[in-house]
Amino acid sequence: MAPEMNQKKFFIKTFGCQMNVADTERMSALLSEGGMVETQDASQASLILINGCSVREKAVHKAVSFLGEMKVLKREEGDTRTNNEISWSKAGGPIIGLGGCVGQLDKGEIFKRAPYIDFVFGPDAIDQLPEIVHRAESGDKYKSYTEFDPLMSYSTETKIASAKAQAFVNIMKGCDKYCTYCIVPFTRGKEKSRTISEVLDDVAQLMKQGVKEVTLLGQNVNSFGKGNPNVAGLEPKELNNAIGKVGPRAGDENFPQLLRAMDSDPRLAGLKRIRFTSSHPLDFSDELIECYHPVTGVKKLAPHLHLPVQSGSDRVLQKMGRHHKIENYIAQMDRLKAIRPDIGLTTDIIVGFPSETEEDFMQTMNLLDRVQFDLIYAFAYSPRPGTRASKLPDDVYKKEKNQRLNRVLAHQLTIGEKTFARRVGKTLEILVEGSAKTQSMDHASGDSVWTGRTGCNVIVNFTSGESRNLIGKLLNVKITRSSSLSLTGELLVDPNHAESIATDSEAIWRNAPKNFAYKSPIQSEVVV
Ligand code: SAH
Ligand code: SF4
Ligand code: F3S
Repeated sequence: MAPEMNQKKFFIKTFGCQMNVADTERMSALLSEGGMVETQDASQASLILINGCSVREKAVHKAVSFLGEMKVLKREEGDTRTNNEISWSKAGGPIIGLGGCVGQLDKGEIFKRAPYIDFVFGPDAIDQLPEIVHRAESGDKYKSYTEFDPLMSYSTETKIASAKAQAFVNIMKGCDKYCTYCIVPFTRGKEKSRTISEVLDDVAQLMKQGVKEVTLLGQNVNSFGKGNPNVAGLEPKELNNAIGKVGPRAGDENFPQLLRAMDSDPRLAGLKRIRFTSSHPLDFSDELIECYHPVTGVKKLAPHLHLPVQSGSDRVLQKMGRHHKIENYIAQMDRLKAIRPDIGLTTDIIVGFPSETEEDFMQTMNLLDRVQFDLIYAFAYSPRPGTRASKLPDDVYKKEKNQRLNRVLAHQLTIGEKTFARRVGKTLEILVEGSAKTQSMDHASGDSVWTGRTGCNVIVNFTSGESRNLIGKLLNVKITRSSSLSLTGELLVDPNHAESIATDSEAIWRNAPKNFAYKSPIQSEVVV
């Protein structure tokens, strides 16, 4: 009999952003450490967790409708009683917990409508999960674990379930930006950062598990380090952005320092790529732009930036409480492209924000032409309870919102077609993520089709006659074709030797002129 036959099983359903994905991974690791095993089949589980997202109404609906599906599992087979007749607190079947941003906002209100749920918990309660589950199993049900502790410092080591090439690393939590449309500051609380030395130790541990690429996570990583005493005594440069100084930062740690420390820590020699998400244009500083410099920047930093802009209209941005202007955003993008021409840019767009006119919308369309993103993530505005924007009239009709959404997505496809086509003929380094979903075999040649991402975060499908598993390998692929969403290529080198070859950034570094410098158009100072 396999040992797991006797072990209790858990099932986790995840909705939402990378932060929730990372949180699920943490839950999974904690429960596994406690002796449970994960199952992909909810009907086999004695514990079902829903890690929900509340960023838009649709996301909440998804979590709620999934909960409805789980309700039937709570009943014994053949149970013919009506819902009212059942004492849910004593019913058999799995323990069900509602978590994530949905759990955090709900705070237990849901027990009245859905008494088959045993507990709710927020992102801050994840580390207590094994204890919470134990309590629920012992009959201590209908509890809400959603308190934020404002005094608690933020310290957490990354937990990944198994050895792998890519990992998410939380470097901070919460958000203090309070964009008027956004629920996240309410679901994730106030900003708190880990320390640089803790993150370095953490990533050093991940190296032992075969990690080659990390994505540093935070709602606004530019705020990383705020309030952390700069114990290393590093003298921070004053952080400047397109609008002015970002601060107060003297004596605090900051994000560019973290990136540079990761680049130079010898324990992280095996780390090939650093990514991060997300940033806010308001405090996207010159110092961070310099980190992309091929000679004087952070060599491991992948040439990709996701910088949400939300709208191309200054009037709408002001109503969104974003505090940045389009002119500044464009200047930041131009500087980045000047310093790192191979950079891949992506953004988030909201259409149909209250009072958005056709003219405002066209400014968003024009911005896409101007910046030339590879990809955009576009959303129809959805009022979120308790946010400042929810008090404004939601006056762009649903049909109009959907039309604008379709128009902006269609427009981006024509732009993506061009930005992706520019990479045809180039040799790019790919971190292999899996076998391509649509066709795992090229039937004409009998070769396997693999998929992975470039440093600039573009998906590449490529064929290989290799029978070995290539997942987690960094390989050079020659790009042969492009579409508006992905690239196709051919594997160039023997995978046995591929990992000793130069990385994207090293190759650029070698070719860059030694005295490369760029001029900031706004502060009119030369930054080297
Ligand atoms: N911290 C991240 C955003 C997290 S939410 C950042 O600032 O980049 C991810 C995206 O969801 C946002 O960038 C925004 O485009 C979208 N979004 C947030 N609230 C929304 C709402 N109420 N309606 C529609 N889209 C929204
Ligand atoms: Fe939301 Fe704005 Fe914070 Fe992003 S920066 S999480 S959009 S409040
Ligand atoms: Fe959603 Fe929470 Fe992420 S609301 S987008 S899961 S931070």
